[in-house]
Amino acid sequence: MNKIIVSIIFAIIIVIGIDKVADVIFYVEKPEKSAYQVATVTTVASTTSAETGSVSSESGNIMALFSSTSATEGAKVFKKCAACHSIAENGGNKIGPALWGVLGRSAGSIPDYKYSKAMAAYGKNWSFEEMNGFLIKPKDWIKGTKMSFAGLKKPKERAAVILYMNENTNSPLPLQ
Ligand code: HEC
Repeated sequence: MNKIIVSIIFAIIIVIGIDKVADVIFYVEKPEKSAYQVATVTTVASTTSAETGSVSSESGNIMALFSSTSATEGAKVFKKCAACHSIAENGGNKIGPALWGVLGRSAGSIPDYKYSKAMAAYGKNWSFEEMNGFLIKPKDWIKGTKMSFAGLKKPKERAAVILYMNENTNSPLPLQ
């Protein structure tokens, strides 16, 4: 009888003990968890930079995609742009700036078009890589651009429209 009582008490002590231990573990785990969350944030950040990396490696590959499509395909894709942009020589500005000869020229450089501050200050040339990056998601590439266009998700569409723009110019960029 005594043994039974002792073992019940023991059992109770053990249960309480486990509870306390669990509390301690939980308490210890909490900061560990938030440390883990910080690590997650870091991971997200590095994923983003990895994505940027993949964007730039993707844009590095944009020229490799040229052979898989054509300016003719690009003319079709350009219909998505035509509501806001002219592409013909002397086509003039619409909602967006005239795009004749855009490849190779400096971003935001049409004198009689009123660019956003972000575009006017961007200062880079429209290389194939820049154009590809911009067209993936304009508002991500140039924060503050007023081009309200979601972007062209498909690399082939970007390659096609870039080829098309590169034909509508006096000085096409070399394709390699
Ligand atoms: C809803 C209207 C709209 C559509 C659709 C649109 N754009 Fe634009 N685009 C603009 C505006 C507005 C600007 C000026 C952006 C600024 O000043 O920030 C611009 C700027 C640009 C520029 C920079 C030109 C320069 O002179 O530096 C390029 C390149 C461009 N667009 C290409 C395209 C292409 C290619 C498409 C289609 C895939 C497209 N846009 C679709 C409105 C549009």
